[in-house]
Amino acid sequence: MIRSLQDTTTLHNGIKMPKFGLGVWQVKDGDEVVNSVKYAIKAGYKSIDTAAIYKNEDGVGKAIKEAGVPREELFITTKVWNADQGYDSTLAAYESSIKLLDVDYVDLYLIHWPVAGKYKDTWKALEKLYNDGKVRAIGVSNFHQHHLEDLLANAEIAPMVNQIELHPLLSQVELRTFCESKGIKVEAWSPLGSGKLLDNPVIKEVADKYNKTVAQVILRWDLQHDIITIPKSTKEHRIIENAAIFDFELSADDMAIIDGLNKNERTGSDPDNFNF
Ligand code: A2P
Repeated sequence: MIRSLQDTTTLHNGIKMPKFGLGVWQVKDGDEVVNSVKYAIKAGYKSIDTAAIYKNEDGVGKAIKEAGVPREELFITTKVWNADQGYDSTLAAYESSIKLLDVDYVDLYLIHWPVAGKYKDTWKALEKLYNDGKVRAIGVSNFHQHHLEDLLANAEIAPMVNQIELHPLLSQVELRTFCESKGIKVEAWSPLGSGKLLDNPVIKEVADKYNKTVAQVILRWDLQHDIITIPKSTKEHRIIENAAIFDFELSADDMAIIDGLNKNERTGSDPDNFNF
């Protein structure tokens, strides 16, 4: 039973990562991101997920300072952008991210997308950052099974996390099973299907039974599947709503109903076919 929004999952190197956090993709730098992160920390969130390409690391850092919580109580994730991939450029990108975030280290550093011909060198740089004690955990994002197999063939350290698009219309069962077999934790981006799933009538019917919202049911479905989840919102009431998922449990039947919604339908790019 998952009891609180501070509950953690243990990565394969022993580091504990919160199962639930705030994503800040498409949140504007400045007041918007500063406020979102502060609302979340005030509501008890411990984990914040950003990326260099979101161009809001600066604001995330400002919010962390203003929130006044000890740095070590938080779990900060950021990601190396595609244009910075390669060994030396990744090391430089990391320095730039921690400077913007104004922190001494990040908890989890991810390769944002599997850029062909580059992600293995990028991974070597992440391994160096990890071995040098600069990051507490390293991982990837948007990696299919074949990308992971290719990476694992030469890796000294296996990724601790694979952050992928995952929601009830794209439940990624095969990739989840593969990751589990390799000790890689799965983290969902756009867990609400970028908002597209919020009027889904099947989930609404389930939600009504528990007196919960569609968003809460989807996020609870993630947790019960051992999927780390990081919904994005800029609104304080939704940031609070999204975290109120630790006081109910979906039955096996209701989990199966939501599992049955999968259509392999993406809202974002396919990692085998992206042009950025
Ligand atoms: P907003 O930031 O205006 O709250 P995802 O995490 O899947 O990318 O979904 C994020 C989208 O869903 C954003 O557009 C966000 O809008 C919206 N959203 C987040 N939480 C909720 C909620 N509890 N109810 C309704 N919309 C939500």
